[in-house]
Amino acid sequence: MKDLITLFVTDLNGIQHEITAPTDMGLNVMEAIRLNEIPIKATCGGMAMCATCNCIIKSDHALVEMSEDEEAMLDEAFVLDIKGSRLMCQIPVAENINGLIVQMGDLTSD
Ligand code: FES
Repeated sequence: MKDLITLFVTDLNGIQHEITAPTDMGLNVMEAIRLNEIPIKATCGGMAMCATCNCIIKSDHALVEMSEDEEAMLDEAFVLDIKGSRLMCQIPVAENINGLIVQMGDLTSD
């Protein structure tokens, strides 16, 4: 079992980062990005209540299913129909997302 995974993150300025995240701390992708000191919008702190942590998943990983709250928030933010659209705070850091490619969204509702 892998304790550290690698994520590839494009930030809001278009800069690409390769980061690592531990799988044994109960983190989500938003928190992993914060831990790596990459500026990220996450106004509600991970409650699926703001959509400022929206992103586009660029890789083919099988992710946890979207909750009704996440779906509603992405819908409200008009990004639900964008292929790969997710909230970073709703994706658990686990071995199954090793190598995930994430592009931060640019919603500015904060
Ligand atoms: S941090 Fe608010 S929805 Fe993710």
